[in-house]
Amino acid sequence: MTKKIVAFGASNSKKSINSQLATFTANQVENATVNTLNLNDFEMPIYSVDREQETGIPALAHAFKEEIKNADAIVISFAEHNGSYSVAFKNIYDWMSRIEQNVWMNKPMFLLATSPGGYGAKTVLNHATGIFKRSNTNTVVSFSLPSFMQNFTEEGILNEELNTEFKEQLNQFSAALSN
Ligand SMILES: Cc1cc2nc3c(=O)[nH]c(=O)nc-3n(C[C@H](O)[C@H](O)[C@H](O)COP(=O)(O)O)c2cc1C
Repeated sequence: MTKKIVAFGASNSKKSINSQLATFTANQVENATVNTLNLNDFEMPIYSVDREQETGIPALAHAFKEEIKNADAIVISFAEHNGSYSVAFKNIYDWMSRIEQNVWMNKPMFLLATSPGGYGAKTVLNHATGIFKRSNTNTVVSFSLPSFMQNFTEEGILNEELNTEFKEQLNQFSAALSN
């Protein structure tokens, strides 16, 4: 049966390289339809406990939750900003965590990160992978792509070693999805 994958770059950049990588990755999974989200469509006031008490959780946070609920699996590629999540992602994540602690609903996840530089945004990826693995009982795989401009084309990952590593993670993710 065809599976539904929700994919997004954890960035609000219009030309996000992480959005490109997330979309590409989700499209590699066989027998799946891909729903790519744009974080700009879910821009909300900055999370605060006071705001939550005064006006509740914004409808856009519930709308994002619905997208996750309706998916069989999730692909996220993280932009690294000062060693951490982009503000655009963190704000959505914080609001979502107030709807339900189990934000990703135990769905299989493929976590990626890429950057123009040679470190491949591993700091944010390692952070997210650690947290999501602890809070998700399902398969969580991860992959970092350094030097995006040199290593990525729409046809795939150019560096052979990196491509092999990517394919291994993709196979694990696809297997979890077909369970
Ligand atoms: C405010 C800011 C902070 C950044 N900090 C980092 C960083 O800590 N590590 C890194 O590898 N790249 C950093 N970068 C560069 C991003 O990796 C680069 O902008 C990348 O394109 C972001 O991905 P995106 O195109 O998906 O938004 C930073 C960029 C900005 C604008």
